[in-house]
Amino acid sequence: MGKNGVCEKMINFMERASWIRKMFEEGAKLKQEHGADKVCDFSLGNPDLPPPPEFKTALIEAASSNEPGIHSYMPNAGIPWVRDEIAKQVAKDHEVDISGQEILMTCGAAGGLNIIFKAILNPGDEVIVPRPFFVEYNFYVDNHLGKLVPVESKNDFSLNIQNIKNAITPNTKAILLNSPNNPSGVIYSEESIKELSKLLTEIGEKGQQIFLISDEPYRRLVFSGSSVPPLMVHYKNTIITTSFSKDLSIPGERIGYVAVHPQADEKDLLLGALTLANRILGYVNAPALMQRVVAKAVTANVDVSIYERRRDLFAKILERAGLTFIMPQGAFYFFPKSPVADEMEFVKSLQKELILTVPGSGFGQPGYIRIAFCVDDEVIKRSEDGFKRAVDSLN
Ligand SMILES: Cc1ncc(COP(=O)(O)O)c(C=O)c1O
Repeated sequence: MGKNGVCEKMINFMERASWIRKMFEEGAKLKQEHGADKVCDFSLGNPDLPPPPEFKTALIEAASSNEPGIHSYMPNAGIPWVRDEIAKQVAKDHEVDISGQEILMTCGAAGGLNIIFKAILNPGDEVIVPRPFFVEYNFYVDNHLGKLVPVESKNDFSLNIQNIKNAITPNTKAILLNSPNNPSGVIYSEESIKELSKLLTEIGEKGQQIFLISDEPYRRLVFSGSSVPPLMVHYKNTIITTSFSKDLSIPGERIGYVAVHPQADEKDLLLGALTLANRILGYVNAPALMQRVVAKAVTANVDVSIYERRRDLFAKILERAGLTFIMPQGAFYFFPKSPVADEMEFVKSLQKELILTVPGSGFGQPGYIRIAFCVDDEVIKRSEDGFKRAVDSLN
């Protein structure tokens, strides 16, 4: 029996996740000792920009409605007219003719990933993910008794299709992509998506159905005219999951959706399984008020030029400190190489300068650190000398 009645697995998970807590506690301690305004906290991917005005207008309108039944239970997949509105956007993003029938409203992208894994994984099924990857994937796949199989990407963190191919086994159930990527900021090219789709189509023709799952909450946070290529147009067994957490700056509101390719194999069975998963995982349905709000604000976006300005500012600071990094094309993270092999040493030397970052090991990529730039420009500017001193102290 686990300590205090808590199961062994969760005790083990809490230990594995403890570095996050340690980072958080270290940060809180530094803030208490030196004052929060002296600490440069780049550890959290919590968007700081205000939601766009369209969000507030839609929220006020939705909250003011006296329509009967709008706060009631609903179909587990969500409000039908909301799903129709979302489908119009997915049709544009993924260049497919998709309807509201193929959309399920979820509690964020995290809720979306959990219902997908619940719906598709048999115990021991494998989910291949390119490194680096969002730390929570380990837990989400394990929640549904699957196994996460990380594979090396190329040096610039673009997809290494050969490595993905080599990792495929008879137990492979899905390839999980996240682009723009947290933590690298890389957008996977359309060429690489096509190549991967071709590979999965060939394997499908031999009788093994592998899903392409695209987790894309940063699709609209892109810089310098970049865009995220469509996926559904290239591969029919594609499932998209995303949220409004980043583009509307509302992560606390827990609203997102899953979209299933209209030509996916056994589509109706899959949609039925996803809908039941939404219900029995205890989400029941995505928040009713937020569904009605995002349907009206589906094309709105935060002012991305602010993130881009901060990215450019930070790039200069990192360059001056002598760090090497891939310029992020999207999302709001830098993922520079640590000047020493053990990136924890670098994280600690930055802490001495009151700069908080996260070790790359947490993202399956030791030797790097993640810096979140969803913070005020002034905090970024203030960190300049500290970055330089921390790097110099290790050379
Ligand atoms: C790559 C990635 N996927 C999923 C999520 C979870 O998103 P949400 O808060 O919308 O559930 C995040 C949140 O930071 C993320 O970075």
